[in-house]
Amino acid sequence: MDRRLVLAAALGLAAAAALPARAQEVAKIGLILPMTGPFASTGKQIEAAVKLFQARNGDTAGGRKVQVILKDDGGTADVTKRLAQELIVNDKVVAIAGFGLTPLALAAAPLATQAKVPAIVMAAATSTVTEASPFVVRTSFTLAQVTVPMAEWAARDGIRKVVTLVSDYGPGIDAEKAFTEVFTKAGGTVENLRVPLRNPDFSPFLQRAADAKPDAVFVFTPSGVGAQFMKQFVERGLDKGGIRLISTGDVVDDDILNDMGDAALGVVSTHHYSAAHDSAENKAFVEAFRKAAGFRPNFMAVGGWDGMQALYAGLDATKGQGGQALVDAIKGTTWTSPRGLLTIDGATRDVVQSVYVRKVERKDGELWNVEFGSSPAVKDPVKAAKAP
Ligand code: DHB
Repeated sequence: MDRRLVLAAALGLAAAAALPARAQEVAKIGLILPMTGPFASTGKQIEAAVKLFQARNGDTAGGRKVQVILKDDGGTADVTKRLAQELIVNDKVVAIAGFGLTPLALAAAPLATQAKVPAIVMAAATSTVTEASPFVVRTSFTLAQVTVPMAEWAARDGIRKVVTLVSDYGPGIDAEKAFTEVFTKAGGTVENLRVPLRNPDFSPFLQRAADAKPDAVFVFTPSGVGAQFMKQFVERGLDKGGIRLISTGDVVDDDILNDMGDAALGVVSTHHYSAAHDSAENKAFVEAFRKAAGFRPNFMAVGGWDGMQALYAGLDATKGQGGQALVDAIKGTTWTSPRGLLTIDGATRDVVQSVYVRKVERKDGELWNVEFGSSPAVKDPVKAAKAP
């Protein structure tokens, strides 16, 4: 080789070596979602939001290129665990993220602890998820957080007797407990029913609910399942029987609300996000999301969007460092999300946010959850009750 070329090559190498090692390294994020199976709508929403976030905010943070590696766990906890392990060991990810359901987040949490890799929970919403590892940060919500305002509203609105009907696992049990505690304290009476999470048939439970002749049925199902619930609610004639339907926003999910038809009109629910949220940030988010993805964003999409926001803010603060430094940098951060103001609680690593009371209305030919009340800066009440 020409001597000048050798010299140039050597100089090039020396220049590269002078760069901080990390700046040359891609910061990989392992995104584990149910892209197939009964909870695939959660994966579809979060994936679209993560893509939109990078399209709008660029693919570098803290001086490093950020590469998202998407893996499909099909909603099965054993698969989540194996994928988390592979992403940590083989891909050397700076963080794992996603987790469409509580059992999936709980399966990955011990690996986050062991490897000291942050786990950004964008969906799973049982209170205990953040306690499963000091490396868990949550950008979704907790069922207790959104259910307490529902029970308060129902009591204020003159509802006295309620049957609760929840999916029989972590978040459903949290919702049942929060509703029952607050509503009975306000003088109401409650009967509790639980329906299996997998392949649910709501009919026998709806019959029992109708027989109890309550003023209202309070429902929690995970995202995507509400359409089937609503169909059976109508088939059983409960919508015509004078029994009101109240729920968490998971049931009247913005992704499937339009398919529910008129039966959903008037349903009052509480949640942290509605696609109809009236703010400049949300209007821009919904418009860009619909354009890019071809469907309407729901609360899962916002959990994914804000998970990326947390990661980018953390990487910027640590100049691209992961591990304990990244979790510490995310603690206490605040930003304006499409849902409103959001803070990651410095003590619990859980999300503090407004919870809105909404009613399903038809506007411009579509069904929307129109907000008409709100409680600001709501913490997860389960952990708040335990705090010293
Ligand atoms: C969980 C899943 C959901 O789809 C939802 O809407 C709420 C909670 C969960 O498994 O934690």
